[in-house]
Amino acid sequence: MYQTLLTHLENGILTITINRPDKLNALNKDVFNDLNKVLDEIESNASIKSVVITGAGPKAFVAGADISEFADLNKAQAMALSKRGQDTFARIENCTKPFVAAVNGFALGGGCELAMSCHFRVASENAKFGQPEVNLGLIPGYGGTQRLVQLIGKGKAMELLMSAHLIDANEAKQYGLVNYVTTADTLLDHTKKILEIINSKAPLAVAGCIKAANAVYDETKDGYALEIAEFGNCFDTADRKEGVAAFLEKRKASFTSK
Ligand code: COA
Repeated sequence: MYQTLLTHLENGILTITINRPDKLNALNKDVFNDLNKVLDEIESNASIKSVVITGAGPKAFVAGADISEFADLNKAQAMALSKRGQDTFARIENCTKPFVAAVNGFALGGGCELAMSCHFRVASENAKFGQPEVNLGLIPGYGGTQRLVQLIGKGKAMELLMSAHLIDANEAKQYGLVNYVTTADTLLDHTKKILEIINSKAPLAVAGCIKAANAVYDETKDGYALEIAEFGNCFDTADRKEGVAAFLEKRKASFTSK
């Protein structure tokens, strides 16, 4: 079904593995085509509750955009490439199902940008993060200049963007770029355990949290007004009635996404 991705759906969690290990899972056109296809599937398939994205092989999550595709680009083509990357990653960021990056090695350039477009990140202790584009005479083109500043603050982001310096998993945790650092062996299980907890909550309320939190960074939206609207929407849902009734009846709620 996909040329460059492996997918596996279990207990409502879709695991996506970017599968070009011989190229350290670099993001080429085929990967972007597949990511857009799998996003269509995630948006339309009700049995997918949440998503983990990771990289094949022991070495890399994603070592960046595929540099071999950069050799002959002109300015207009480069801008189109950047726009396509940004649009794809915006689909991940705005997906109303939780999307988590399980970072198992190098997350460089487009790989760091992909991880940053996810709702949060878990890293194995061998993970390395960075935006090394200035080594190539480039800047990040898939949202990295914006999301790195949002996630770790302007001062440290500026340093990493301008110096191409890579940080390890523990430093990334210290800056808030990742939520947890695990061993390589436990990375996926740890990530899935978090998603199992999230999957047990009311899905429409979880979606509302994603929309409202994303509005903080969207100048076209009034996040407080959006929060009021989403809070109100919850009151029209069967899951809100079930959640409140279950609390009052001292039992576990059973949500239906309605
Ligand atoms: N684009 C295309 N190919 C890439 C790639 C990328 N971003 N990153 C790695 N590869 C390829 C290498 O060319 C090599 O392919 P080959 O075996 O056909 O020659 C293969 O993946 C393995 O990489 P290699 O460089 O041999 O591994 P390493 O362990 O010596 O180094 C890195 C690992 C991540 C430090 C190094 O691959 C690297 O610097 N990659 C580019 C990182 C980057 O600048 N990313 C931002 C791009 S905008």
